[in-house]
Amino acid sequence: MKITVVGTGYVGLVTGTCFAETGNTVTCVDIDAKKVEKLSAGQITIYEPGLEKLFLRNQKENRLLFTTNLEDAFHEAQVVFLALPTPPGEDGSADLKYILGVATQLGKLIQPGNYKVIIDKSTVPVGTADKVRDTILKAASVDISDDFDVVSNPEFLREGVAVDDFMKPDRVVIGTSSERAIKILNELYAPFVRQGNPILFMDERSAELTKYAANSFLAVKISFMNEIARLCELLGADVDMVRRGIGSDDRIGKRFLFPGIGYGGSCFPKDVQALVQSSIEAGYSFRILESVMEVNKEQKVILMPKILQHFNHELKGKKFALWGLSFKPNTDDIREAPAFDIIQELLYHGASVSAFDPEAMNNSRQVLGNAIEFAETPYHALKDADALVIATEWNEFRTPDFEKIQELLKNKVIFDGRNLFDLTQMENLGFHYESIGRRKLSSTK
Ligand SMILES: NC(=O)c1ccc[n+]([C@@H]2O[C@H](COP(=O)([O-])OP(=O)(O)OC[C@H]3O[C@@H](n4cnc5c(N)ncnc54)[C@H](O)[C@@H]3O)[C@@H](O)[C@H]2O)c1
Repeated sequence: MKITVVGTGYVGLVTGTCFAETGNTVTCVDIDAKKVEKLSAGQITIYEPGLEKLFLRNQKENRLLFTTNLEDAFHEAQVVFLALPTPPGEDGSADLKYILGVATQLGKLIQPGNYKVIIDKSTVPVGTADKVRDTILKAASVDISDDFDVVSNPEFLREGVAVDDFMKPDRVVIGTSSERAIKILNELYAPFVRQGNPILFMDERSAELTKYAANSFLAVKISFMNEIARLCELLGADVDMVRRGIGSDDRIGKRFLFPGIGYGGSCFPKDVQALVQSSIEAGYSFRILESVMEVNKEQKVILMPKILQHFNHELKGKKFALWGLSFKPNTDDIREAPAFDIIQELLYHGASVSAFDPEAMNNSRQVLGNAIEFAETPYHALKDADALVIATEWNEFRTPDFEKIQELLKNKVIFDGRNLFDLTQMENLGFHYESIGRRKLSSTK
């Protein structure tokens, strides 16, 4: 099948590459000419495990093409995916300017007798498929009402395991009532659901809401556990024990119960906010999600009171090593990453920061410039630092050389926002060690 993907970011590039991998010819369109130039030259623009190999193979076999020209890419395609940004607008609702802007362009390009399926893969509020359809019709100069369908097909991939998620999805959600579109999408997704995972067909509105409901539910689970962690600290319980205790209950499940310094990334924060705003517009106040946003905002800087107390509220002249900048491991995505909230707080209090991340250094440099130091290795970051702060649970931070850490740090002090280390081990090593929802170790040998 010939496919066009409009928007070649985290979702668009993975979508395009994975559809090419199953034999389709995919043209990815982006307005960012530099990005298109790089991709066309065989240079991948995001870090996503397993993606580069597929990207290079399909590009070599001419099944994966890149362009800035929507018109050229559009004419031959039967299916057009929109993988465009839907950032929060001023009131927190999803800003549809990118989607509707492209819909206007599509309205001018769709021709009678040349049927296309236009698919919203972006996360969009309920009613967007209708808006896209109306926008296309309005922009057309002739009657094309029978020449296209707009389908909602939200994407559930997780950055860091996006290729696996796309190739073997738990489910594919498709919102449409068009028989023509259903037939095409069944064919397109067949290779991805061979193991029996379902393609769930539903109406557009339910599909659109499913995506927000999924992300919001996971955000609730994270924030619930973060509040349990706060309570553990106050009551002298251990959140690891509580987590195991509740996670072994099938009704609750083990996943998304790890406490930490809050959720970040380009999806949960904006999607929870957008659902809250959609609810308000629908005349309903979604109180659970309003609380989740509040809890998460505090959680992102939950290490700060611990840091301030330890240093008697005097951080001026102190240096902090920071491990992890990406919002989660296995991605270079730094959007809404808690590390940045911590950095901002540390700088505000007069401290300096030396940071290391395995993949997110370039993206971080673009945002932070010279405001902090970027270290070559995790250990370079530690040199003469007063404490180590851990913000992202990259695997390579899990079993570090503690002797080296002790040698390099000025003080044996670690603030761990991801509960990476064992309490007994840290106690034996004599670290001052503070984590989330667990006993504080203040003894230093
Ligand atoms: N990132 C994720 O993990 C993830 C997962 C599921 C769903 N989503 C949703 O998918 C959508 C895209 O997210 P993303 O993370 O890929 O965004 P992104 O910012 O990484 O990529 C968007 C791309 O669209 C391009 N673009 C903007 N306007 C354009 C236009 N007019 N024509 C062509 N290209 C244009 C941008 O240059 C950029 O490359 C969002 O709605 C997001 O909520 C994201």
